[in-house]
Amino acid sequence: MSLQEKLEALKHETLAKIEAATDLVVLNQIRVETLGKKGPITEVLRGMKDLSAEERPKVGSFANEIRDALAEQLEARKEVLEQEAMDAALAKERIDVTLSGKQMPIGTRHVLTQIMEEMEDIFVGMGYQVVEGYEVEKDHYNFERMNLPKDHPARDMQDTFYITDEILLRTHTSPVQARTMEKHDFSKGPLRMVSPGKVFRRDTDDATHSHQFHQIEGLVIDKNVTMGDLKGTLEVLMQKMFGEDREIRLRPSYFPFTEPSVEVDVSCFKCGGQGCNVCKQTGWIEILGAGMVHPNVLEMSGIDSTKYSGFAFGLGPDRIAMLRYGVNDIRDFYHNDIRFIHQFKGE
Ligand code: DAH
Repeated sequence: MSLQEKLEALKHETLAKIEAATDLVVLNQIRVETLGKKGPITEVLRGMKDLSAEERPKVGSFANEIRDALAEQLEARKEVLEQEAMDAALAKERIDVTLSGKQMPIGTRHVLTQIMEEMEDIFVGMGYQVVEGYEVEKDHYNFERMNLPKDHPARDMQDTFYITDEILLRTHTSPVQARTMEKHDFSKGPLRMVSPGKVFRRDTDDATHSHQFHQIEGLVIDKNVTMGDLKGTLEVLMQKMFGEDREIRLRPSYFPFTEPSVEVDVSCFKCGGQGCNVCKQTGWIEILGAGMVHPNVLEMSGIDSTKYSGFAFGLGPDRIAMLRYGVNDIRDFYHNDIRFIHQFKGE
């Protein structure tokens, strides 16, 4: 067989192998075996030294042609195999998006969290800042700065969990008033804040008492703040919480940190004032305590009570949630029974 015939045969044989190759590893082997340094074409080219000067260029260019043709076919086949591999991978990884998924149980925000956030939003809308206080608080802020010195009889109103003589679990959110007032820079404008959070009292738990519950404290201090401002503010709050037709009324009361102090009632959202089981036939629901900030409280926080005045109030989100949703037992909020909690899906 002449060299040309050998090359021709090699070409046909290799083309058949390329065509038959079904994976990239095999194809690469064919390339190395055919075109590599130890392959038959290199061998033919090496054998050219024995050819006549006349034949040498012919055989040389023929060998090159064949090498190029084979290289081209190898490349083409490689592309085909790569595409096939890609298609196969895609087919294997295909996800059926129409398949119904696993249902994951999703929690809900606690109903008290929802109520507090709803009220926070209302106050933020009126320009209040939301401030957080400490659940573990100093006697100093919880009582003294709220105008309740150590021997004050009104301390008994709030049975306290003491940690040491001076440190306690706060019995109300009112200490946040003092902490905020002493930091406020009145040259930058009035103080308007609400502070939601947990409070603690040494009560025996029953349907209407819990040793842990929630409050939202409110405080506004500026020049010329009046009781009319307090009433207007609380009226807006109650209308947003319980319906546009709600009215409020103020009754005289007593808190050591306010003077005068008031108890605020809202007209019954269920019967509209006719009398029903929710309002105990009175047409009114007792909803919160409030008042004008006592001058002593202002002065103890470094505020000149001859120039500034303010109002404060303390709301009970637990009570508001109980009223709104007809929950008869405050302990339901704290037992974490999922059947109870899941009734309040929120938005
Ligand atoms: N701190 C009071 C309590 O826990 C609630 C309260 C009443 C807060 C009147 C106030 C207020 O800021 O002005 O019973």
